[in-house]
Amino acid sequence: MLLRIYAPHISDAKAGQFVILQLKEDSERIPVFVLETFQDGFSCILEIVGRSTLEIKEEGEEFYYVGGPLGKPFPANYYGKVVLYSKNWGVAGAISVGRALKEMGNHITLVYFEEVFTDILKKEKFDEVILEKDLKAYKGVDLVITVGDNLLSKNVSDMYPSVRHIATPKVYMLCSVGLCLSCRLKVGDGYSLACTDGPWFDAHSIDWEEVIKKEDTYKEEEKIALEEYLKKLASKRISA
Ligand code: FES
Repeated sequence: MLLRIYAPHISDAKAGQFVILQLKEDSERIPVFVLETFQDGFSCILEIVGRSTLEIKEEGEEFYYVGGPLGKPFPANYYGKVVLYSKNWGVAGAISVGRALKEMGNHITLVYFEEVFTDILKKEKFDEVILEKDLKAYKGVDLVITVGDNLLSKNVSDMYPSVRHIATPKVYMLCSVGLCLSCRLKVGDGYSLACTDGPWFDAHSIDWEEVIKKEDTYKEEEKIALEEYLKKLASKRISA
């Protein structure tokens, strides 16, 4: 779902930054990448995966809270040949970072894996936009970037052991301002917070095994929340 949201305070967001969306006072806070900014707000892409995103699709007209811009912008410099791997919700981050790097004169190859984003990606002026079935390595690359999936980031990190790799890990973010520690992850010899130190990190320094292990922390709660919301929707439709 592509959303354009009126929120002038987000209009100066830089490539690779994110915002927090909260539909109602009691809704979950969802971090999403900023795709584009406008004078009066921004656009983003939401993947409908659970209760909170479905709630936005079904009932979203205005948001209770739109927080940001958050996180550190992507380090947009000249690197040379850049390959950007994007999966799932990562497509907005991949596009915003890809555009910023293209402006700096980099050669951009964007690799994606789901046909669903073809219409959006077709419009981008990258050097190559490739729909792949399987993950593969490219030669002569100066920088690889991964966004949208932890296993993808881990596999790409293993595939390019001596190439600079910047990735954004998928972790739970409850507060997004450095207070709750839910987004804490092991980076090198220490720990960092994805919300305030990230969302972009040197992928070779991340403990991907640990990050992947934590992906299912709230899986059961999410399943119950989605089931309850689907029941609520069904009874609403019957009574209408
Ligand atoms: S989300 Fe709370 S500390 Fe990062």
